[in-house]
Amino acid sequence: MKVHIIGGGNLGVSIALGLTRFSKGHQITVTRRNTTSILYLEELGVTVSKDNKHNIQEADVIILTIKPYQVSTVLAEILPVISNKVIASGVSGLSIESLQNKIGESNSAIRIMPNIAAQFGASATCIAFNEKHAIQAQNVVDLFQDLGTAPIIDEKLMDAATVLAASGTAFALRYIRASMQAGIEIGFDWKTALAISAQTVKGAAEMIMEENIHPEQLIDRVTTPQGCTIAGLNEMEMHGFSSSLIRGIKTSLKQIKG
Ligand SMILES: NC(=O)c1ccc[n+]([C@@H]2O[C@H](COP(=O)([O-])OP(=O)(O)OC[C@H]3O[C@@H](n4cnc5c(N)ncnc54)[C@H](OP(=O)(O)O)[C@@H]3O)[C@@H](O)[C@H]2O)c1
Repeated sequence: MKVHIIGGGNLGVSIALGLTRFSKGHQITVTRRNTTSILYLEELGVTVSKDNKHNIQEADVIILTIKPYQVSTVLAEILPVISNKVIASGVSGLSIESLQNKIGESNSAIRIMPNIAAQFGASATCIAFNEKHAIQAQNVVDLFQDLGTAPIIDEKLMDAATVLAASGTAFALRYIRASMQAGIEIGFDWKTALAISAQTVKGAAEMIMEENIHPEQLIDRVTTPQGCTIAGLNEMEMHGFSSSLIRGIKTSLKQIKG
């Protein structure tokens, strides 16, 4: 596929890097106005350009990874030269209806919510589209399945997906940081504590995904009666471990909805 990514920032570059590693064989173009910091992508076979229209007529999928306030400018540039294109937008808060109205009926609006773990083939990319664009959306689903998982969701859950999957990356990292800090307090240097904490989270996530079971079933396997794990867990819960995470996620959602 020819994949044209407009907005070579954090997310756009993560997707491009992920595609070069986990979905080989595509021709990828990444554009932004100041390309200096992303020229290294060319060594990986990615075309980098300042021109959003560079070879865009040949693109099979156009991915928008720009900020909401940059959408009008970018669309004004590219729309005169494209038709029958699949436009997958990762722009937070931009609805399918609003994007479809802007790009016209000859193009198909698909909404995606990836996260920067796309670079490591580990993004949970929620995807929403109108049923009439199901065929056009398939290419997008295929691409993002290669970059992790790509659940198709009802668009009304897109804000929730943003919080759970995109902000969720920061929440998980904060857990790892806290675990690392505790690790230092109990005797490790920070690098060792971080490596142990990160690998432990990865291991826990992999077990859940492999076995497809409820986390409590796995927790049950590591909590011995009267043991240290249950004592620690109960202490954390008494200090609001689960409830603070749930409250944080709900606050983020409120913030998005305005
Ligand atoms: N970061 C995440 O984890 C994440 C996750 C999900 C969704 N999102 C959404 O994805 C979008 C991008 O987020 P981000 O974090 O990647 O932002 P970012 O790092 O600021 O990237 C935006 C990029 O767009 C480029 N840009 C601005 N105007 C442009 C134009 N006219 N033509 C071409 N490129 C242009 C900017 O580079 P120049 O200034 O050099 O042009 C910049 O590199 C946002 O809507 C965000 O809400 C982000």
